[in-house]
Amino acid sequence: MDAGELMELGPVLPVVVLEDAEQAVPLAKALLAGGLRTLELTLRTPAAFAGLERISAEVPDIVVGAGTIVTPAQAERAVAAGARFLVSPGSPPTLLNAMLAEGVPVLPGVATVSEVLAVLERGLTELKFFPAEAGGGPAFLRALAGPLPHVRFCPTGGITAANLADYLALSTVPCAGGSRLTPAPLVARGDWAELTRLAALVSSH
Ligand code: 3PG
Repeated sequence: MDAGELMELGPVLPVVVLEDAEQAVPLAKALLAGGLRTLELTLRTPAAFAGLERISAEVPDIVVGAGTIVTPAQAERAVAAGARFLVSPGSPPTLLNAMLAEGVPVLPGVATVSEVLAVLERGLTELKFFPAEAGGGPAFLRALAGPLPHVRFCPTGGITAANLADYLALSTVPCAGGSRLTPAPLVARGDWAELTRLAALVSSH
């Protein structure tokens, strides 16, 4: 699987902040039951690495990746734990090198035209647009599609059920990501049925 195929697995990439590794497997199963086939676990909590291990071992039908990769060491550790793709909020060269060295699909973050061009020089055309809402929203991506129609984006940062369709309407946006699709209170109380219901709403977009 390459980054393009990853983006085409579904219109939504749920971004999850996992507080308790025990929740990883039921969470992944709930998203899968709602029709989602990908899941980005952010490395913002100590539970994230254990979560990657459990999901990759016990729920192989969902493609689990690691997000919030901000150091080269995290890229290696995440893949060792089972991450099948890597997502970063930015794309400095050292970090990008470390992510690419892992041999899994990567979605490096960009927020400006020059950052997009720098990553294009590395041969990547599938990128994360972050922070999407704060960084210009659909209008920014629409403007970029003029000079760069072949570059595809997974916008994240401020994506909600209300603005998701505005992004997915763009020819350069196969999927969008966000944490609001797996609201923390639902996960905290283990409301897997509600999570499946929300996943089904967005996965049918
Ligand atoms: C990310 O890490 O991709 C973003 O923080 C997700 O942004 P959101 O929390 O606004 O969805």
